[in-house]
Amino acid sequence: MSKVVALANQKGGVGKTTSTINLAYALAQQGKRTLAVDCDPQGSLTIYFGFNPDELEDSDSTLYAGLIGDKPIESLILGENPALIPASISLANAEPELLVKIMLSSQKVLRDKLKGVRDNYDFILIDCPPSLGLLTINALVAADLVLVPVKTDNLSFHGVARLFQTIEQIQADLNPTLRVLGILPTQYNPRNVHDNQILNGVRDALSGQSVNIFDPVNRSTVFDKATSLGIPTVAITPGSPSVLSYHQVAEALINIP
Ligand SMILES: Nc1ncnc2c1ncn2[C@@H]1O[C@H](COP(=O)(O)OP(=O)(O)OP(=O)(O)O)[C@@H](O)[C@H]1O
Ligand SMILES: [Mg+2]
Repeated sequence: MSKVVALANQKGGVGKTTSTINLAYALAQQGKRTLAVDCDPQGSLTIYFGFNPDELEDSDSTLYAGLIGDKPIESLILGENPALIPASISLANAEPELLVKIMLSSQKVLRDKLKGVRDNYDFILIDCPPSLGLLTINALVAADLVLVPVKTDNLSFHGVARLFQTIEQIQADLNPTLRVLGILPTQYNPRNVHDNQILNGVRDALSGQSVNIFDPVNRSTVFDKATSLGIPTVAITPGSPSVLSYHQVAEALINIP
């Protein structure tokens, strides 16, 4: 059965979606069957994969239809390896509708829906929205592991303690087997003193805890180029230093028992 990894951080723009697509390709390159799930109404992952969320919305073939409607989740899968379950703006309606279902344990909807496809993949990566609402809770309940991308700037690290509190709550109440895969520092400029201070601060703050901090993903304009082309950076510049960390995270995931 597949390992399910949620990429979560309630802070916007820290690299969740970029990490999801690059990690998905890095795993696929290693021959692992990988499914990426766009769990964000912004549909960025869907766009990064080169699809148009509006067109998919018109044909009612995005995650919303599987989560709230009764479309089988398998029927929403696009592409081969990595495959994608796309999202569109209608997913924003899912939060209030999930809330209505709260008495029916709405936090577990995504987990239950993914059960049907778990055997077909080695890895399922869930790209979370920038909030700690029910979509992120659903992802964390469906996940075995959580990877936390953190931009190496001052504001971004502030929210991590809050995210870890939420993770602990979910471990206590809803998903006792959820583990933290680690923190992935992103958009790091090794020549910038500030970035280095933040990275060292992150390492100091977590030194007492057994949280793995991966080597940072360097800042590079190739990431923006990749998103505008609808292909992942690891595919455009396979050997570049900016993507080494994604291969490292892929390796860590593959080696988890
Ligand atoms: N290592 C990097 N170097 C330079 N730019 C990057 C890097 N990683 C991501 N970016 C750029 O930063 C922006 C935000 O990245 P991304 O969409 O992955 O963040 P996010 O956390 O998913 O955002 P949101 O919270 O809105 O979902 C994008 O324009 C992306 O191309
Ligand atoms: Mg995103």
